[in-house]
Amino acid sequence: MRGTGPSDAEGFAERFDPFNDQGSLEEEMSARSLMELTRREMLTVMASAGVATFVGVESTTEGEAMADSMTTPPAYRGSHEPKPLPFDPSKLRGLSEKLLRSHHENNYTGAVKRLNLIQQQLGQMPKDAPPYQTGSLKREELIATNSMVLHEFYFGNLGGDGKPSGTITDLITAQYGSMGTWEQEFRQTGLSLAGGSGWVVLAFDPHEKATHTYWLWDHAHSLAWGTPLLVMDMYEHAYAIDYGANAKSYIDAFFQNIQWDEVSRRAEQTKVRY
Ligand SMILES: [Fe+2]
Repeated sequence: MRGTGPSDAEGFAERFDPFNDQGSLEEEMSARSLMELTRREMLTVMASAGVATFVGVESTTEGEAMADSMTTPPAYRGSHEPKPLPFDPSKLRGLSEKLLRSHHENNYTGAVKRLNLIQQQLGQMPKDAPPYQTGSLKREELIATNSMVLHEFYFGNLGGDGKPSGTITDLITAQYGSMGTWEQEFRQTGLSLAGGSGWVVLAFDPHEKATHTYWLWDHAHSLAWGTPLLVMDMYEHAYAIDYGANAKSYIDAFFQNIQWDEVSRRAEQTKVRY
């Protein structure tokens, strides 16, 4: 049975406005105008404004590349940059530096690079291409995007002392009755994914207007509109280097290193937004 949430948690839903992060109409119109410039027009504008000289672009090839970049709509630029690990990977308990660097450099960074290539390919798709080709790339785009996003949440909630405190404990207790009840279900959800793939995500659910733990079979599963607060990677690449197939010991290590301050910060940010 769900407990009674704190008063400010109830305010989440009252202020819930999914569109409040959108840019202004003026910004949108400005971006559209830029996109509507042709590559040739952009080169002319750049030359007349002395942009190439100002930014040190000396060759025509570089200038053309810049013009191509500026005239390509953002959706097709593929310009995502991997973020560095937010902690010293030699300092975590029970998760080796070798494991963490391999995970970050191969799986996470690989997803970011893959997403960039996919979006650039979508931008080059012929207008008469069969729909299934677009659909295949759109499916891969979703998978790579969620892999990038979930890995950033995952690494972002590691590097702490594993001791829960702050806003998040109030929200979890309000939803589950106790931290122990929540942790038991979160761990069991992780074990249900052992030996395969997936994620366990404690999210803010705007429909229920509360925090809730969700099971994600792969990168394409996620709660519609949910905001991740605590993310645990259950793909074998997240633990096999240190633990082989022993997912239980990995989950123990994960809990020892949770950065609860960051989880609470996400919860506070969610309250401000919603
Ligand atoms: Fe991963």
